[in-house]
Amino acid sequence: MDRFIIRGGKKLNGSVHTSGSKNAALPILVATLLTDEPCVLHRVPNLRDVRTTLKILEYLGKKIEYRDNTVTVTADGVLKNNLPYELVKQMRASFWVAGPLLARFKVAEIPLPGGCAIGVRPVDIHLKGFEKLGAECEMKAGNVILRAKELVPAKIVLRFPSVRATQNLLMCACLIPGETVLENVAKEPEVDDLIVFLNKMGADIRVGDKGQLIVRGKTALHGAEHAVVADRIESGSYMLAAAATRGDVTVDGCVPEHNSILIEALQEAGFTLGVTPDSVHVHAYDGDIKPVRVRTAPYPGFATDLQAPWMTLMTLCGGTAEVDEDIFENRFMHAPELVRMGAEIVTEKSVARITGVKTLCAAHVQASDLRGGMALVIAGLCAAGETEVERVYHIDRGYENLEQKLTALGADIRRYNPDK
Ligand code: UD1
Repeated sequence: MDRFIIRGGKKLNGSVHTSGSKNAALPILVATLLTDEPCVLHRVPNLRDVRTTLKILEYLGKKIEYRDNTVTVTADGVLKNNLPYELVKQMRASFWVAGPLLARFKVAEIPLPGGCAIGVRPVDIHLKGFEKLGAECEMKAGNVILRAKELVPAKIVLRFPSVRATQNLLMCACLIPGETVLENVAKEPEVDDLIVFLNKMGADIRVGDKGQLIVRGKTALHGAEHAVVADRIESGSYMLAAAATRGDVTVDGCVPEHNSILIEALQEAGFTLGVTPDSVHVHAYDGDIKPVRVRTAPYPGFATDLQAPWMTLMTLCGGTAEVDEDIFENRFMHAPELVRMGAEIVTEKSVARITGVKTLCAAHVQASDLRGGMALVIAGLCAAGETEVERVYHIDRGYENLEQKLTALGADIRRYNPDK
């Protein structure tokens, strides 16, 4: 298994370009199941989760061409309406295919995705929504079987504004003639990007005056071309890497508005940021890093995906900072690893209290999830000496060309596999 060896203690310097958003690209790729016509998607990051999604589309009967971040999806015979566990276990997000397959075939069989390191990750909100749309949900041998004689438009109020449930229900509702209204929906930019793509495919989705999504379902959708929105989690992670190493970095090709809460938090911590319509410059800063309390929340709140990298920055603050994780129940696995690197962190339920230290020390650590893994990479960049981060496969799910991008910023990071 690959590891990263990082010789830290260098300030990052230069500029880094943001890739397309993983979490936007994945549901958009899945949405191509809603048509037999060709779809062309640009700025699709070359990441493990994307490659898994392409395998899923191929399994289901699509033909894929993927070159230079552009994916062309075309029909290749009749689509299947089920997925094997082998593919689902590689990526929980594969449950997204439920919406489009149900809409097209009135029956779909998908293995339950199961939990992951950061939490249980149930799909009850998806299933309740499908039931409202006229489907029966049956559990059999670890699979969810969705069946409907006829799908009907409905008003659905989500118990929680789940990102993937919002996207799944939207995709399904697009092919149900009549008006479906989704309330208490997720407002993440990745949901907006899916809406833009679905509307390009001929769907009719608009946002109502109370933020509800109003879908006028169609009998068919057509092919479309789209460039995926910039990855706000990647751009935010580079801003945090720049700040933690006390570097001077411009993150370009991003949408600063999507990182506005993070930008405010960094300013509160003492950093000066230069913001243009598509870039954020984190200026070099040698003063004290002020402790700032953040609480994760659905968009536009502080992104749970930036909580771990943010915690690394706060390990170096002058005082005690608090992080409340209000989205996932078990998203502090990076904390004990950061403690092994000299950080002072006490966690209690959903709150982490971080007392800043002068420096972090290099250590041998393990990534246990994607964003927690990035937090360790940033810590390794700050710590003098050689840090070894194991289980890089988690990080490979979400950061395109990470070593190349960091090396271009002056970092000393390399990948190696002790088994090769
Ligand atoms: C998406 C993102 C993930 C991000 C998260 C929150 C993708 C592939 N992943 O995940 O990176 O961390 O949004 O911004 O886009 N929940 C239920 N029942 C459900 C669905 C969700 O209880 O049916 C709970 C989850 O357990 C969690 C919370 O709702 O505690 C948020 O989950 P959700 O918004 O669905 O996150 P994901 O879409 O899985």
